[in-house]
Amino acid sequence: MALLSVERLRVEFPTRRGLLVAVDDVSFAIAPGEVLGVVGESGAGKSLTGAAIIGLIDPPGRIGAGQVLLDGRRIDNLPAEAMRRVRGREIGAVFQDPLTSLNPLYTIGRQLIETITTHLDMSPGEARQRALDLLAEVGISAPKRRIDHYPHQFSGGMRQRVVIALALAAKPKLIIADEPTTALDVSIQAQIIALLKRLCRDHGTAGDHGQHLARRAARPRPGGSGRHPAGLGAAAVRLRELRAAAANRCA
Ligand SMILES: Nc1ncnc2c1ncn2[C@@H]1O[C@H](COP(=O)(O)OP(=O)(O)OP(=O)(O)O)[C@@H](O)[C@H]1O
Ligand SMILES: [Mg+2]
Repeated sequence: MALLSVERLRVEFPTRRGLLVAVDDVSFAIAPGEVLGVVGESGAGKSLTGAAIIGLIDPPGRIGAGQVLLDGRRIDNLPAEAMRRVRGREIGAVFQDPLTSLNPLYTIGRQLIETITTHLDMSPGEARQRALDLLAEVGISAPKRRIDHYPHQFSGGMRQRVVIALALAAKPKLIIADEPTTALDVSIQAQIIALLKRLCRDHGTAGDHGQHLARRAARPRPGGSGRHPAGLGAAAVRLRELRAAAANRCA
């Protein structure tokens, strides 16, 4: 069974001049362990598709039709509180700008530990150890020292690693990443892609705590509108380049 199934999704915004349909009839499925890249020209609806999956479409925007299933269970019609739990616990999210995901007023340790204790049955001590392990796993050196630092004390690439640790904190089954490397230097981009690939590989085989990664970026999706073939081709090349760069780093 598919881990995530998006069926005939439509996202719309009521406006004074009528209904604006931003995402129209999008369907895809992601199997456990699978990485799916979503491609499309700017404004195609990639970010809104991701936002719809995790229940973060700003009103008056709404899912106008279709459904989203996680492990066969519908999640597009859950009450806000239930959706919040799905978001933290079952689906992790990584966005373009790490600063929007981190609270500048709290140490990264506090943010990690809060997320862990909210979603997993762990004591503060166990949660702190898990936070340290996560920081090490995403490649932050000297985690015992760094855990008490604030977001502004990290470089952009390191902050995005922290965000990835945060996304993994509650052992989600799926990660939605919306252009997770766009705001970073080119050399750092390859490192972050390599990290995401490695995490997906390592956790994807880890039995029922497996993590599965849906990587979303500026790239076309087969079966899309096909209205801008030239732009789509260019983006597809970029995906291959990124994959090649990531593979080299892993090797
Ligand atoms: N709050 C909103 N109100 C009205 N229209 C919106 C709103 N948010 C997004 N849209 C429209 O929905 C469409 C899809 O937006 P989305 O952000 O998903 O594009 P995208 O594919 O992620 O583009 P990019 O590659 O530039 O990030 C765009 O045409 C956008 O103008
Ligand atoms: Mg976008």
